[in-house]
Amino acid sequence: MKNVAIFASGSGTNAENIVRYFSKSETIKVAVVLSNNRNVGVHARVNKLGVPSFVFSREEFADGAPVLAKLAEYDTDLIVLAGFMNKISDPLLNAYPGKIINIHPALLPSFPGLHGQGQAVAYGVKFSGCTVHFVDEGTDSGPIILQKVVPVLDDDTEDTLADRILVQEHIALPEALKLWAEGKLQINGRKVKVLA
Ligand code: GAR
Repeated sequence: MKNVAIFASGSGTNAENIVRYFSKSETIKVAVVLSNNRNVGVHARVNKLGVPSFVFSREEFADGAPVLAKLAEYDTDLIVLAGFMNKISDPLLNAYPGKIINIHPALLPSFPGLHGQGQAVAYGVKFSGCTVHFVDEGTDSGPIILQKVVPVLDDDTEDTLADRILVQEHIALPEALKLWAEGKLQINGRKVKVLA
């Protein structure tokens, strides 16, 4: 059994979706959720499903030590960033090399950073989507595991596009985690090979 820790800063629909998806899994358990914000929806969403959540300050995430202690307490094998709006600090990256996965609401390398959906609407692209990738020291720049594509419609706003992308996020993230747990993701430099 692999223990997953989710980092989340917001509503937590991805976190709830992952907890539900793997609730009967024999390979993945969502052990704990960590957040930088006490006043966000993710806590209630996962607590009601029996998953504990904890809050650390921006400084504690940057320092790493208190966060690493909590991750060790839950025997964490993999960190999943599901709407986590803090940068991952070096101590965390060094402690979990190749073991941090992020979901971003755009087709990377286009539109990294904040408001990926709004950036896509403003640019006028015809397709956008979501990207699941391993985390490196850059912003949304690590090796890509998988992507899902959605059309961008003429009258889309940031919010309407975000809703369409979120449906695909809820498919993409469990798919990537399942592949990881089955040992099917092989990182070769920038490329991730999905083994048969
Ligand atoms: C998701 O759309 C996720 O891709 C995005 O935040 C949202 C969180 O939704 N993440 C980023 O923008 C990271 N740069 P949720 O709280 O309902 O899962």
